[in-house]
Amino acid sequence: MRLLLFSLLFITTLNARLHRLKPNRKLKWDIAKNPNQGPMKAQPEQIHLSYGGSPSTMFVTWLAFDDTGNGFVEWGEGRAMDRKSTAHVYLFQDGQSGSVDRYIFRAVLTGIEPGKTYRYHVGSQFGWSAIYEFTGLKERSEGGFKMAVFGDMGSQNARSLGKIQEMVQKGDVDMVLHVGDMAYDMNENNSEMGDEFMRQIEPAAAYIPYMTAVGNHENNRNFTQYVNRFTMPGTENGLMYSFDLGLVHYIVISTEFYFFTSWGWEQIGNQWRWLSEDLEKANDNRHNVPWIITMGHRPMYCSDFDGDDCTKYESIIRNGLPETHAYGLEKLFYKHGVDIELWAHEHSYERMFPVYNRTVYNGTDSPYVDPPAPVHVVTGSAVSVRRIYCHQKQITFDYEISMRQ
Ligand SMILES: *[C@@H]1O[C@H](CO)[C@@H](O)[C@H](O)[C@H]1NC(C)=O
Ligand SMILES: *[C@@H]1O[C@H](CO)[C@@H](O)[C@H](O)[C@H]1NC(C)=O
Ligand SMILES: *[C@@H]1O[C@H](CO)[C@@H](O)[C@H](O)[C@H]1NC(C)=O
Ligand SMILES: *[C@@H]1O[C@H](CO)[C@@H](O)[C@H](O)[C@H]1NC(C)=O
Repeated sequence: MRLLLFSLLFITTLNARLHRLKPNRKLKWDIAKNPNQGPMKAQPEQIHLSYGGSPSTMFVTWLAFDDTGNGFVEWGEGRAMDRKSTAHVYLFQDGQSGSVDRYIFRAVLTGIEPGKTYRYHVGSQFGWSAIYEFTGLKERSEGGFKMAVFGDMGSQNARSLGKIQEMVQKGDVDMVLHVGDMAYDMNENNSEMGDEFMRQIEPAAAYIPYMTAVGNHENNRNFTQYVNRFTMPGTENGLMYSFDLGLVHYIVISTEFYFFTSWGWEQIGNQWRWLSEDLEKANDNRHNVPWIITMGHRPMYCSDFDGDDCTKYESIIRNGLPETHAYGLEKLFYKHGVDIELWAHEHSYERMFPVYNRTVYNGTDSPYVDPPAPVHVVTGSAVSVRRIYCHQKQITFDYEISMRQ
């Protein structure tokens, strides 16, 4: 029994991390030994971009089912695509019995000029993708950037998908922020659900950065699907990171550490310390980057009646862990003057008046002008096969509080 437990732990620990392959590794097939051998599933797929942390940098990530030894992005302004970036290759084994090996390729493109459009394809001598293009991130002529913000989009019944793909391809959106919960679930059917989802988002994600937060539906095996399939800036595992774009400092966190504690309690404290430091740095830099926007899957406020954490008077995300109230996020975000908090999880959309400690703090001239408290937006209605909540009622916190007293 003890042995079994040990090996289980060992496997999950492996799965939590990225498994980067050595450059000159021995391949399953070896052309030098047998020229009639070669990879069969070398065709790149699931191509997606993510922001590298500055407008001059972009990550390109893709997948193949065979190890091609190496992988490249060929890219440039003209037809010739005369620049070449080499990918690091990772082996992704989802840990489920009967699953197949997946090879994930991650490349970084540097020297991108804002406003310039580049063509690219990805692959190796054994197969190249179709040609895609992207434009170096640059403020729109009307000011700012346009983000598509949503959470909770499944592979089945992804009602928002067509709209997102179309808007992205027509240049109406500069970046996607997916606030957790994807595919429902990526690990299903030996991870084929994840492959399907990544193929579905490709017509958007191959053209503009697709930035993600982890949701509860990604909890399987210590969030291994999420960690392995996405590449986010300044981080190994993409679970917590931050970046500046234009006048905004974006912070992305995992609210799921608070709920899937079997993957380690220490992740809550680690994230908290990182978050406090990041907020301090962001505040020191307000003269350059005045806004702070956070993004995490599970909200601290909502007006649904589904019994989720956000419906509780003492929500864990808001107030911290039971009894001790350690690591609650509301005070921390308030103290550091966070402007907007983006959430999902609830399959509905709602935008709140500025609120702190269950009290509305309206702005000076109107609710959103210089408000003394953060504005919460819950946007988890990109749709899957799961239930969608619709209610017309406007519910205020005063109403909720009086209901509970
Ligand atoms: C889960 O992954 C994190 C790193 O992302 C690691 O610190 C933790 O130990 C892992 N937990 C388990 C149970 O393997
Ligand atoms: C998983 O695979 C089985 C057997 O091929 C199929 O019947 C089922 O619909 C699949 N499930 C999903 C969620 O795709
Ligand atoms: C939050 O509101 C409650 C109830 O009105 C009050 O007792 C408490 O002191 C407030 N906490 C803070 C930190 O303002
Ligand atoms: C905040 O402003 C809105 C819109 O002007 C108003 O309906 C609401 O009553 C105000 N709330 C408070 C607490 O001042």
